[in-house]
Amino acid sequence: MKNILVTGGAGFIGSHLVRLLVNKYPEYRIVNMDVLTYAGNLVNLKDIEDKENYEFVKCDICDFEKVQKVFEDYQIESVIHLAAESHVDRSIKDPFSFAQTNVMGTLSLLQAAKHAWDGNFEDKLFYHVSTDEVYGSLGKEGFFLETTAYDPHSPYSASKASSDHFVRAFHDTYGLPTVISNCSNNYGSFQFPEKLIPLFINNICNNKPLPVYGKGDNIRDWLYVDDHARAIDVIFHKGKHGDTYNIGGFNEWTNIDLIKVMIKTVDRLLGREEGESEKLITYVTDRAGHDLRYAIDSTKLKNELGWEPSLQFEEGIEKTVKWYLENKEWMDNITSGEYEKYYKEMYK
Ligand code: NAD
Ligand code: TYD
Repeated sequence: MKNILVTGGAGFIGSHLVRLLVNKYPEYRIVNMDVLTYAGNLVNLKDIEDKENYEFVKCDICDFEKVQKVFEDYQIESVIHLAAESHVDRSIKDPFSFAQTNVMGTLSLLQAAKHAWDGNFEDKLFYHVSTDEVYGSLGKEGFFLETTAYDPHSPYSASKASSDHFVRAFHDTYGLPTVISNCSNNYGSFQFPEKLIPLFINNICNNKPLPVYGKGDNIRDWLYVDDHARAIDVIFHKGKHGDTYNIGGFNEWTNIDLIKVMIKTVDRLLGREEGESEKLITYVTDRAGHDLRYAIDSTKLKNELGWEPSLQFEEGIEKTVKWYLENKEWMDNITSGEYEKYYKEMYK
């Protein structure tokens, strides 16, 4: 049995990845380490929680001693590290917690892996899951390549950039086998409704205003979350150590166009008149330091490892909207209590 530590497995992307690995590889033991912040939710993993090759450990990645004990107790051989503070708007309000979790937490895991593996790096791997936001913002032309210089603008992307540098430093300095992937914006089921797509689907359903930052002309490159999980699987097994892979689906949308697609889809599925909910669009003050455009070139991943996205965007967004409409209870559980305070504070 191969013992793989996945961090942040109770979050959005982590839960999709854990499900994929647990179901696809019965011969691997998947140890999910998560401290369950506001974004972590074990309900996301209900369908696999009783599987024999799955274990959950509640642990803060910054708690170095506890992390070391997990490496020892479970004889961890590989790490796929996703645990992070992940929302740009929160990072603007509270940059300290981003530096703590994303930088110090990553360092704590790297150090624990180095101690546990103690120079015996055969069949070991530290896989760090990162974001395209480390590359900064594009103008109207061009794409992010693996060789694009880092140029982060938000406290979130600065903290992720810093964690990427630590991962590379551990490879170059101590020979730790590492790999990094930088992915574009994800969408799909189980995403916390602070991010654009689930937030807006929920607001459209509840006839609440849709707060569009600035003019809505910022561009994001959207990838279906299961395609990201499939890419991680491929890179984990076939990626070259010390290397970086960009993950994206060549699927750019301005925010306002994407919002109109969501409105159309939700209205149709709820039997409302076409475009009825466009009246909810509310332009609000722009996000500080708002990156204009992200666009990933994932040709390297396609050419070297054979990964390609499986879903067209139209199909992915239809599936996603349907999932949120059919899983109202999941959404309602999240959007009560603490979330209301967050929403009032953020969108006052
Ligand atoms: P998320 O916010 O949904 O989940 C993060 C998870 O990490 C949660 O389960 C949370 O409880 C856990 N966590 C946070 N701090 C922790 C700590 N100190 N110790 C242990 N666990 C902790 O995030 P996500 O959207 O699933 O993103 C996962 C990873 O993928 C992040 O590293 C993020 O930077 C990266 N990423 C995300 C996107 C995206 O579009 N969401 C795109 C590219 C890369
Ligand atoms: P988000 O989902 O927060 O992802 P990221 O900032 O990491 O790309 O936001 C996606 C885009 O949507 C981004 O350009 C900001 C914009 N946005 C809004 O216009 N209104 C909102 O309420 C939110 C949350 C985001």
